[in-house]
Amino acid sequence: TKIAVFASGSGSNFQAIQEAIDRGELDAQIEIVLTDKPNAPIVKRAEKFNIPVFSFIAKHYESKEAYETEIVNILEEHEVEWVILAGYMRLIGSKLLASYANRIVNIHPSLLPSFPGKDAIGQALAHGVKITGVTVHFVDEGMDTGPILSQAAVEVVEGDREATEARIHAAEHKLYTTTLKKLFADEINLIH
Ligand code: GRF
Repeated sequence: TKIAVFASGSGSNFQAIQEAIDRGELDAQIEIVLTDKPNAPIVKRAEKFNIPVFSFIAKHYESKEAYETEIVNILEEHEVEWVILAGYMRLIGSKLLASYANRIVNIHPSLLPSFPGKDAIGQALAHGVKITGVTVHFVDEGMDTGPILSQAAVEVVEGDREATEARIHAAEHKLYTTTLKKLFADEINLIH
């Protein structure tokens, strides 16, 4: 299964997916990493794994439609079948959604539909939840709103944000690869 990973930041989920592929746990190839932040740490990580990177600066384009048209061309050149969002901080527009209908997935660090959007971990902690978690979902035009594919619960470590974050990220790395594996094997039933 040929995939593309879209990211704007650290890229730890990218690395977890690539390492699962290298261990033979996920039958996929990351054909390209795409980023809207040319200086983000994800770029160095991708280079370390010899994965080509396409960087773009959104404001250099006339519109979302314009940069997404270029993105779709690149994805098609690489015969990408699935788009995997991993900390990509932009809403997906109608051009990409139409070209990759039901083929775009995202991971979010909360139990959706609670705490969508930015700083989900901070939102959950500020609310005082005792259990939070992570969600993998299909992407639609909304912010963290598409159909849920899988979730994992994470217990908050009281008074220790760093430890809670570490648990959440570890849960993400595990859940993303196991979910992609099922998704690519057509083993996820979305009827509920
Ligand atoms: C993750 O917490 C993910 O859930 C959110 O952005 C973060 C990306 O982390 N959408 P990384 O860049 O994969 O380390």
